[in-house]
Amino acid sequence: MIVTNKYYLITLGCQMNEHDSEVICALVENMGYIATTMPEEADLIIINTCAVRKKPEDKVASLLGKFASLKTNKPNLIIAVGGCMSQQEDAAKYLKNRFPYLDLIFGTHALPRLPELISEAGNRKETIIDSEESYIDREGLPVAHRGRFKAWLPVIYGCNNYCSYCIVPYVRGRERSRNINDIIVEARKLVARGFIELTLLGQNVNSYGKDLPGQVTFAGLLAELNQIEGLERIRFMTSHPKDLSHDLIETVKNGEKICEHFHLPVQSGSDRILKAMNRRYTREQYLDLINIIKEEIPGVALTSDIIVGFPGESEDDFLATIDLLEKARFDNAFSFLYSPRRNTAAAGFTETLTRKDKEDRLQRLNDVQNRISKEINESLADQIVELLVEGESKGNPEILTGRTRTNKLVHFKNSENLTGKLVQVKITETRTWNLIGELQLKLDNKYV
Ligand code: 5AD
Ligand code: SF4
Repeated sequence: MIVTNKYYLITLGCQMNEHDSEVICALVENMGYIATTMPEEADLIIINTCAVRKKPEDKVASLLGKFASLKTNKPNLIIAVGGCMSQQEDAAKYLKNRFPYLDLIFGTHALPRLPELISEAGNRKETIIDSEESYIDREGLPVAHRGRFKAWLPVIYGCNNYCSYCIVPYVRGRERSRNINDIIVEARKLVARGFIELTLLGQNVNSYGKDLPGQVTFAGLLAELNQIEGLERIRFMTSHPKDLSHDLIETVKNGEKICEHFHLPVQSGSDRILKAMNRRYTREQYLDLINIIKEEIPGVALTSDIIVGFPGESEDDFLATIDLLEKARFDNAFSFLYSPRRNTAAAGFTETLTRKDKEDRLQRLNDVQNRISKEINESLADQIVELLVEGESKGNPEILTGRTRTNKLVHFKNSENLTGKLVQVKITETRTWNLIGELQLKLDNKYV
């Protein structure tokens, strides 16, 4: 009888982590493991962690608490914790002390060594920690893409910005751009395999190329990818407002495959707080930038991240953020309570707000943003939009779900499963978080 080992993987955090998990899947599958959705039947459990706020870190502790009993029933079970939390030496040591039954703790830089680390962990009693800070090139690592028509494509790893609240530069290292040819070759291969939408990933995609020889820029990379035949949509995230070039705006405007959407985190609308955050732009510069984007690219969608309750944020600072939301009119904004992160500059700032103060502000901010998102969606009524169909809605296979080029979720009725296809839909109903549409007539086997 052939016994197949099974692995169970949980991913917390951002898109880059989701992509790292696709690499982890491919590496462990190459070792002979097959995926399971049930931790009880796994021989290997991996949690790919996030360290950007306290909440996802707490989640790791609660998951590990649950997995402890599995280890009692199955002594050969390997439990591993990877990702951003494991990359920090102090967090790795804490995990080892609190959960001594852990077999392996591996940081983001350890990905290329993962197969050896897992083999070693299976043979050793004590917890192995690999939070090594030096990184080796991860080019050429296999990827098990989760989707069939949409794929992540990392273009730059790490971050050099050191925003005062942010752990990312400490756990993802300095900026490293991938070689432009490697990216283009990978994109072509993905398209040849049937992928029609690629999302270029980087903590700050605008820095792409700065560390490469020659005149390589992110706009240049996008323009090259725009030439790939068979590719339908190109997305990218995240952009830092301080170095979003005019060239990039022009390239998005002119590149027919490049989706009209910028995720451009502002974090705060107060100059005083922006300075303390080390963001290196003012609210005026930010508003000028988005006004240019809106003028140049009609119908563009803008989304943002906001941190509420940064140390020293006064009521006036907060009102400046609310005022910026009213002026910027984001399609959507992801808002977070400030969460102090060990070893960052802001961890040394004195917190001036109670949790209740922060939560009240978050609620007020969300109320304003929800109204704006709803108003923007209302303006889309009766428009015909292009959708990439992502699948059937849960509970009802006759309702299909897709995304517009501006990344809005649209549901529409159709009995034929059009997953992975581009269709045209007329918006018939609008809501705060999604839209309802009607499939447009089919002509020559194409939905127009
Ligand atoms: N506390 C709260 N939010 C944070 N973010 C990053 N670091 C912190 C922190 N310490 C938010 C920022 C960033 C998003 C990915 O997470 O808004 O853009
Ligand atoms: Fe963190 Fe700032 Fe880098 Fe974004 S740009 S990852 S917020 S340090």
